[in-house]
Amino acid sequence: MCGIVGYLGPLNPKDVIVGGLKKLEYRGYDSAGVAILDGGLVKRVRAEGKLRNLEAKLAHESFDGHLGIGHTRWATHGVPSERNAHPHQVGGVSLVHNGIIENYLEIKEALLKRGANITSDTDSELVAHLVAEQVKIQKDLLKAVQVVLKELRGAFSILVIWDQQPDRLVAFKDGPPLVIGLGEKQTFVVSDVQAALNYTKKFMYLEDREIALVQGTGVQVFSSAGAPLQKPVVELNWNADQVEKKGYSHYMLKEIYEQPHAVSSAMAPHIDATNQTVRLSKVGFGGAGVTHLESLDAAKDWEQTQKIFASVNRVTIVACGTSYYAGLVGKYLIEALAKIPVEVDVASEFRYRKPVLLKDTLVITVSQSGETADTLAAIRLAKENGLQTLSICNVRNSSIDREAHGHLYMNSGPEVGVASTKAFVSTLAIFNLVATAFGQARGQLSLGQAREQVQALLAVPSQMEVVLAYDKYFADAAEDFKSFKGFLYMGRGVSYPIALEGALKLKELAYLHAEGYAAGEMKHGPLALIDERMAIVMVAPSDDLFEKTVSNLEEAKARGGKIISIGTGENERLKSISERYLGIPKAHWSTNPLLEVVPLQLMAFHLADSLGHDVDQPRNLAKSVTVE
Ligand code: F6R
Repeated sequence: MCGIVGYLGPLNPKDVIVGGLKKLEYRGYDSAGVAILDGGLVKRVRAEGKLRNLEAKLAHESFDGHLGIGHTRWATHGVPSERNAHPHQVGGVSLVHNGIIENYLEIKEALLKRGANITSDTDSELVAHLVAEQVKIQKDLLKAVQVVLKELRGAFSILVIWDQQPDRLVAFKDGPPLVIGLGEKQTFVVSDVQAALNYTKKFMYLEDREIALVQGTGVQVFSSAGAPLQKPVVELNWNADQVEKKGYSHYMLKEIYEQPHAVSSAMAPHIDATNQTVRLSKVGFGGAGVTHLESLDAAKDWEQTQKIFASVNRVTIVACGTSYYAGLVGKYLIEALAKIPVEVDVASEFRYRKPVLLKDTLVITVSQSGETADTLAAIRLAKENGLQTLSICNVRNSSIDREAHGHLYMNSGPEVGVASTKAFVSTLAIFNLVATAFGQARGQLSLGQAREQVQALLAVPSQMEVVLAYDKYFADAAEDFKSFKGFLYMGRGVSYPIALEGALKLKELAYLHAEGYAAGEMKHGPLALIDERMAIVMVAPSDDLFEKTVSNLEEAKARGGKIISIGTGENERLKSISERYLGIPKAHWSTNPLLEVVPLQLMAFHLADSLGHDVDQPRNLAKSVTVE
């Protein structure tokens, strides 16, 4: 959480840094600030609240220097306020920080004993004090950081500048990402490539406890012990204009509408067009490393992937939030198609609950950002225990992607709305492919059955377009939601995780209480909640479980609950029980979830928007959760 941008180069740093922070505002929006060279000193401007407040202040400011740092904050230590906003300045040192310094109490005590004047409630300011003390001794910013880094514990990425060395910027990290963008005679240091894509597509990824010195037009990277390192440069194929709203009122709405394309892009590399079956492309289990995937021999790589799928005896899927719900769908698919036991775990529980990790387990992590701290810790734990790991990520070269043995990509393009949408459906497409490949590798699916799966998946983008065409209808349905005090989202089988995801979308966007339940669980408690002010949002496709789901609906209706149901086609039975009925096209059981989620996303979007909420940046949230 928190977005940071540093710049050294010929352009106007104010414009570059504020432009970059705009792209990173999804990471936090409690306050923002910049520190930029001006007249040989570093001038700082900060504002509480969203970036637009900082922009208003900066409208009257100019800077004559070419070096600066900026920050947009998601508060951890200290309330959102200007006093706690970054950059923190101590003496001539200015510093921005993303993350948490875990030993901050110890550091604070020691600093106070040494007479430090601490002016904020943050852990970040303490690091600025440490650097300020060290530059006095070392007379050099890089050397000062080398000393300070030894004292820090926690999860952090930090940029620091010093007015006595106005030609350099020092960056270091342990945990949250820092990426160095290499432009023409200019360098960017950012939390996410999106902040520098307007200027360069060449990036260098800093690893934990490495220190980068940006000076003049070059970058040198050192280990924490001071040894110079050779770092690979990665060229990205994302475009800056993919990060624009392109005429939509909100990023989230644009991203919902991009879902048919996202699903196509997720599956395209992995479908063997001749056989109409699955052939996972360049997964890289052989150990080539994420930067060398392109150069792999596709046939050998596929053989290796199939070997691993055939040899493991269980799968554990680990993720957080929406990605966790995608993992739950993955469980239903893999168990049904490959007949192999699958566990799904929330990463924050998995990492601490001392899981029994048997060697014949494949651990699959799901993460849009590839930077979620708990998921990253989970993959490390799996590797420490000698397990094979496979990551499903959207952001290539992200920390989780770099850690994993095998790599699959959502290919959704940049997702900017804080609430995840297109990455979710891309992941469901990937799980369909993985389950099919697993099923074939283990002899559980015939070629004919695998083809049936692929054909079902290929039909999804156009089926999704049909669902999207009913957007106006979902907006009307969302109006009904205003009269309810609470919401129970329900589904059975593979639609159960979709109920969970629908409830999460409503909570995070509309700030209304919603619970997701397996429909069969109603009698075990939730029925007591039902009265005429409780809405039941039931996901009830025409599958094997339809009759059972309808019985659950009848029970809820008999107790006064108001029913909003999502079913297949023109389902008269559901229509007769429901206050609102929303039909989706007839699809395969395994691809129903990709269609069912769309009305749920759109209803949450429209409701939140009509309530006047900031849909792209819901309160208290941030997109990339890089602290636990
Ligand atoms: C909800 C949402 C979050 C994320 C979660 C994991 O709409 O976006 O629940 O799914 O924070 O993030 P990633 O997938 O980046 O690991």
